[in-house]
Amino acid sequence: MSSLEERAPLVAAVLAARAREMQPLQIPGHKWRYQDGATDVVGFDLLHTLVRDDVPLQGGADDNAFSGRVLACAEELYAEAIGADHTRFLVGGSSQGNIAALLTVAGDDQAVAVDRTSHRSALSGLVLSGAVPQWIYPDIHPEFGIPVGMPVAALEGINAEAVFVTSPAYVGTMTNIGTLAAACHAADRTLVVDQAWGAHFDFGVGGYVGALQAGADIAVTSVHKALLGYSQTATISCRGNRVDMHRFNRSVDATATTSPSATLLASIDATRMVMQEFGSDAIGQAVETTREARRILASVSGVVVFDEASLGCVVDPLKIALWLPRAGCTGVELAEALWREGHGVESADNDTLVMTVSLVDERDVVIGIATKLAGMIEKMRGASRSGMPSAVWSIRPEVVMSPRTATFAPRRRVALGDAVGEISAEQFCPYPPGVPLIGPGERVTEEVVAAIEMAGRVGRVAYNSDATLKTIEVVAS
Ligand SMILES: Cc1ncc(COP(=O)(O)O)c(C=O)c1O
Repeated sequence: MSSLEERAPLVAAVLAARAREMQPLQIPGHKWRYQDGATDVVGFDLLHTLVRDDVPLQGGADDNAFSGRVLACAEELYAEAIGADHTRFLVGGSSQGNIAALLTVAGDDQAVAVDRTSHRSALSGLVLSGAVPQWIYPDIHPEFGIPVGMPVAALEGINAEAVFVTSPAYVGTMTNIGTLAAACHAADRTLVVDQAWGAHFDFGVGGYVGALQAGADIAVTSVHKALLGYSQTATISCRGNRVDMHRFNRSVDATATTSPSATLLASIDATRMVMQEFGSDAIGQAVETTREARRILASVSGVVVFDEASLGCVVDPLKIALWLPRAGCTGVELAEALWREGHGVESADNDTLVMTVSLVDERDVVIGIATKLAGMIEKMRGASRSGMPSAVWSIRPEVVMSPRTATFAPRRRVALGDAVGEISAEQFCPYPPGVPLIGPGERVTEEVVAAIEMAGRVGRVAYNSDATLKTIEVVAS
């Protein structure tokens, strides 16, 4: 087998740096003083327990001039592995990637078609770029109220050169990117896909392909979600000749730290190596385990497990997402019970419970949790009720001004209940799934007020100015 330098150059560089005696007179300020024996150092416990993984890229894994090109080489290997022309590693998550992607494809006052069920970072990208969203809407399942893919028909009447969609959605449902990309390209549009949840698809899982291979021009992907990267790690990649490479790179640079941790970046390199060398077997096993767990939960009376058969669209094979109203319990109470037993879940609301499996989950653990959860549902079972889908998936706002104009406009604070008819100057975002109920520049309606109050009762609502949710900042007239 080839050397580690060839298989994962950034990983090799970090390991070599850690093995070197370093007494640097440059950042990072912790000066790598986390080695055993350095007990006389101020703050040693902190360094030893929390900072001990950190190796900087500059003056660590590489020299100050980056003459080793270890990051560039690792990015090239990643691009090659996923069929991209160009990949950049990110330490600001897919949030950074979405902002950089929107800065790449749309500028001040330019229209861009954006999936309204996108993560809040898409809204940040609109505020920073000054672009004006023409919201587009995925199909919503008539009974379960969740998105089941962005249809080509959603682009009818759109007058924008770029389209931004999210796939997989938080609940695992997927858009047919191949069909959408063909429609976009036929109309000379650039397609950006927020594939934060779909990093495994880039490495070919069970016949699926990643967004770029399916035809997207830019894809943003969290490495820390479906795969093995350090928290915060993500990639942005592009393919084909629609993307202005200068603008792409400057947008990534504008959103990036100039002092990245090579440890974080190397975990992207290591993940790519692992996926190429062992990934398909491990993912295949995880997919099989997920299928088995889904079968256990689907056998519980009243529980609907989201999959192709129940929804009619492709669902991420590593998601276990349940719809619970017919079993008479809520996702929130089940999530609390699971949390008390040490099992965090990805998201929960009244109707749904969403869990993610990855390639390092052991079969017996996942099956054990699924079996335990089936028992909890039986214990908490109540009368069957109708669903109350989260409004984040179905809100169709009246856009009065651009997100940027409203964000920086003069504002006043009013009671939430008195704000109907006003223009919001801020966003209210239930987290998870991190999809705004209302964004800056949108008209406040009774439906939105009720949705904010309901979201506040079942979970966290974030990124607005009043944590009590009693008031809202609106554009001063
Ligand atoms: C669809 C989607 N896009 C982007 C993000 C942001 O990803 P990150 O946490 O890597 O910044 C999230 C986070 O949950 C998400 O769900």
